Amino acid sequence: MKIRMSSPDLSTADRAAVNAVVQTPNLSMGPQIKAFEAAFCQLTGAQHAIGVNSGTAGLHLCVRAAGIGINDLVLTTPFSFVASTNVILFENAIPVFVDIDPATGNIDIHQLSRAVEDLSRGGEAAQRWLPRNLPSVNQGPLNRAKGIIPVDVFGQPADYDPINQIASHYDLVVIEDSCEALGGAYKGRTAGTLGNYGVFAFYPNKQITTGEGGMIITNDDQAADFMRALRNQGRAPGDTWLQHTHLGYNYRLDEMSAALGLSQLEHLEELLQKRAQVAGWYDQHLANIAEVTPPKIVPATTRVSWFVYVIKVDPSIDRDRLAQLLENDGVPVRPYFSPIHLQPYMEKMFGYQPGDYPVTEDLGKRSLALPFSGTMKEEEVIYVCERITDALISAQKAE
Ligand SMILES: Cc1ncc(COP(=O)(O)O)c(C=O)c1O
Repeated sequence: MKIRMSSPDLSTADRAAVNAVVQTPNLSMGPQIKAFEAAFCQLTGAQHAIGVNSGTAGLHLCVRAAGIGINDLVLTTPFSFVASTNVILFENAIPVFVDIDPATGNIDIHQLSRAVEDLSRGGEAAQRWLPRNLPSVNQGPLNRAKGIIPVDVFGQPADYDPINQIASHYDLVVIEDSCEALGGAYKGRTAGTLGNYGVFAFYPNKQITTGEGGMIITNDDQAADFMRALRNQGRAPGDTWLQHTHLGYNYRLDEMSAALGLSQLEHLEELLQKRAQVAGWYDQHLANIAEVTPPKIVPATTRVSWFVYVIKVDPSIDRDRLAQLLENDGVPVRPYFSPIHLQPYMEKMFGYQPGDYPVTEDLGKRSLALPFSGTMKEEEVIYVCERITDALISAQKAE
């Protein structure tokens, strides 16, 4: 059996929607992006939706709109895809890492609270949250904490009530990285709407895809105007094609991508239900494997939007050997996530070392994303679970 790690779930109507666009002369900045954005406002209740050409671009524009710049401190976690940290670095601001809750992989609220308090006190208290080294661009006095970028890991929202309480007490902006959580909900509130800004991503393994693409949502009118200008080479309303009020980017989402996203969004509910069913099959068929812990969904998550299905293996198991054995059997798997602070460029820039964020590192060593998409059949899930059972015998660590 040939199993794919992930697979877009496209309908005939989705393909036809893209085809229809290429029959027209409007391939960029036409009606599709407007309709896609309007559909997002309707889905989330947000005042503004701004389509961009990746989730990373969306997060970057939020960082710019929040006025985060050189030597500002931004709290986030090292258990994420690198983009949530990179967008801080793009502006020469400084990521301040906070470790995670081992059950969910989301930001640890107690540590966040302590970190923000210590940073506000400055001096030695603040120092223990800061990296060992700072790049040459960041020499000179550091500024106060300006923001938090919580990540809704694997489709489960972080704990936003305390996050927003901390943020409002210390005047921090909250940029919700909901790139993995489209359709998820926290205490009945839609993922993406839980901070000042929310960002979704549409890479082909996501709940809906546009090939490449992303969407920002916010209720801040001024920030929305600014981000619309920045995504379009800095052209403010009223600027001509060759007038650029701001330093901007080409972060535009083209019409083919927007049409695909719009069509996919129309059957989001069905797409999410299919993914939930696949996750349910995994839960069921992994239930009796003692060495495997399935994903933990906390009560505050009133809806998980299944992005990936990530298991945690027992410390007695050599996770990398297990992964190799599964790959040899035609079952692709990924260690997910690989801690951001231990990426080579992060070690070089900031002097991070193994041991700095133990919970992230432990999860990084023991987690394994299994093949997952809404197109998977139950027999494929059973096949993966059987291969896991077989491989676990040979993947035991030597005593
Ligand atoms: C948590 C998280 N943040 C940001 C991104 C970036 O999205 P993109 O790949 O569209 O730039 C991703 C994408 O996988 C992600 O999972």
